[in-house]
Order: sequence, then structure tokens, then C-alpha cells
Amino acid sequence: MAWRSRVAGCGAYLPERIVTNAELARRVDTSDEWIRKRTGIRERRIAADGERTSDMGVLAAQAALDMAGLTSDEIDLIVCATTTPDETFPSTATRIQAELGMTRGAAFDVQAVCSGFIYALSVGDNFIRLGQAGRVLVVGSEAFSRILDWDDRATCVLFGDGAGAVVLQASECNGGLRDPGLLSTHIFSDGRHHDALYVDGGPSTTGTVGHVRMEGREVFRHAIVRMAEAIDAALAANDLTPGDIDWLVPHQANLRIIEAMARRLNLPDERVVVTIDRHANTSAASIPLALCEAVEDRRIQSGDLIMMEAMGGGFTWGSALLRW
Ligand code: ACO
Repeated sequence: MAWRSRVAGCGAYLPERIVTNAELARRVDTSDEWIRKRTGIRERRIAADGERTSDMGVLAAQAALDMAGLTSDEIDLIVCATTTPDETFPSTATRIQAELGMTRGAAFDVQAVCSGFIYALSVGDNFIRLGQAGRVLVVGSEAFSRILDWDDRATCVLFGDGAGAVVLQASECNGGLRDPGLLSTHIFSDGRHHDALYVDGGPSTTGTVGHVRMEGREVFRHAIVRMAEAIDAALAANDLTPGDIDWLVPHQANLRIIEAMARRLNLPDERVVVTIDRHANTSAASIPLALCEAVEDRRIQSGDLIMMEAMGGGFTWGSALLRW
């Protein structure tokens, strides 16, 4: 017998304020048509003044705990994926821990930008597989609007705020492909690509928070290749083929990238969970937000096989294969 991480619950939170493409077009030289055609985005949610990454993370985490029927004192570890922490330190995860009233276990952040949720899942899964934790709360939460240059049309139209969370729970299994839980996670990075996507600030460089800088075309080109690699790694590790996958729950960066990954898996549109039209790119929160939506509206059913993949600054990229 071995330990596998089953998803016992998931939760999501989106800030109330909706910002449409038309609203952005009043601020920068862009148009609803350009944004929709190039990215698939119609609108995004933006955190209220004073609404922190931890505030959003707590609401998503509480919803995930409620679905799992658990209280925070039954959690051993919180791993929070974020690029927009409340403060330089302490970790946003410890703030979420305190807000949830959890006084035991451990909590820390993981930083892999848009791949953050896959990285955090991988960390949580490995703690469970090693028997070091029985229940792990994995949170992806971002106030990305706070690191955008609102005068840069090439980036400010692409991102949004929000949070998603899952509770991973150790479950005994024989290692079979049909047993529920994470079948595998794969994470990768190549730091040579820093200049294509980064924030021009930070405690040890400028001492400021900084803003997102991106060579969009370069990121797009790498995203297609790297995410395909991550998908192939997941399939190969489990001796599966694209025909075995029921759902693609991808990072939501650009509808054209999502469609390219769907084609690679021969998946029709109705088997791909898309939220980018309403959420834009919420970085580490995009996958759990999409997963929760498809679980809540009952598209995802028990026994379904879900492919998750992401690519982000670093570059970082990865995949996770989940039997629901
Ligand atoms: N409105 C109107 N025109 C614009 C806008 C805008 N918002 N932004 C750029 N343009 C212009 C450019 O200036 C350019 O004009 P030019 O031809 O006169 O020079 C033209 O549109 C085409 O620009 P491209 O950058 O070539 O457009 P592209 O089709 O590549 O789309 C986009 C740009 C949407 C950014 C795309 O490249 C993309 O999605 N890249 C990937 C981004 C991504 O995946 N990020 C995820 C990781 S994020 C993270 O990890 C934090």
C-alpha cells in the first residue's frame, strides 16, 4: 500500500469588482476587440482597496475546508502559491493560518508565478506521499492588479485577482490508475529566460514592489512548447495517452494557448475548462478557480481524469494529473 493525495474539497473566491475591457480602453490605447481576439478575455475581477492576498486566500481556503467537512485544526500544512504576498515577510500562508484559527502544523509560501499552483500541489503531494502530512491545504491567491503598470497596455489588460484552494488528504491506494487522487506532478524551470517575464522591483534590487514587464510574443512561443512538454511528461509517467484524459484544466493565460494544448490532447472545447473570459490571468489562482467552477457545476464527475498544466515567469512550468 502507498499514500496518494486525494482532493477532499475545493473552494474559490473572486473579488466583487468587475473591470471590463471597455473600461480599460478608456485608460490605455486598446480595444475590447483587440483584447478578446488576442487573448479571449472579456473582463477581470480586481481586489478592493485594502483587500489583501491573504484575505482572498482565507475565503477560498474556508470554502475548500467546508466542502471537505474539515476544520482548520485538522490540517497539517498550508502551502500558499503567490507572487503578490501581503508583505515581504512573513509568508502569506502564515497569515492565512492565523485567520483560519490554526495554531499547529506548518505554513509557507511557494513562488513560481503562474506555475505556482502546480508547484504547490507538487509540494503538498510529496509531503503526503512521504507520510509527513495527512492533510494539506494548497492555496493559490493573487492580487496581481497591485504589480501591474496600468499605463502599459501590453500587460495591464491581461491579469486579474482571485484565489482558489484545495484540501489534499492522504488516502491509501495500491498505486492503480483508477484510484482517486494525484497520479503525478511534474515541475520544471529554466532561469535563463528571466528577461522575458519579470517584475522590475524587489527588496534586494530596487527596494520597491515593481511592475510586471513582459515580452509577450516570446512568452507565448515558450508557453506552447513548455506546456506541451509538461503534458507529455505526465502522460508518459503514467503510461497514458491523450485519449485517456477527460478534462483539461489549464492555467488561464491566453485562450489561443489553451486551445493549442486542447488540440494536443485531441479534446473538444466542451472538455476544456475555460475561465479566462471572465477572470483573465489570475496567475497561481487560475487553475484552482477553474477546477472549482467545473466541480461546482458538476461537469467534473467522480472517476474523471484531469490534466492540469501551467507556465509562468522564471520560466517555470509543470503539470499535474488528477483522478477525481
Ligand atoms: N491593445 C492594443 N494593441 C496592443 C495591446 C493592447 N492591449 N498590447 C499590445 N498591442 C499591440 C502591440 O504594440 C503590437 O503592435 P505593433 O504590431 O504595432 O508593434 C501588436 O499589438 C501585436 O503585439 P504582439 O505582442 O505581437 O501580440 P500578440 O498576438 O503576441 O498578443 C499577448 C500579445 C496577448 C501578450 C500574447 O503574446 C500572449 O498572450 N503572450 C503570453 C502571455 C502569457 O502567457 N503570460 C503568462 C505568463 S504570466 C506570468 O507568469 C506572470
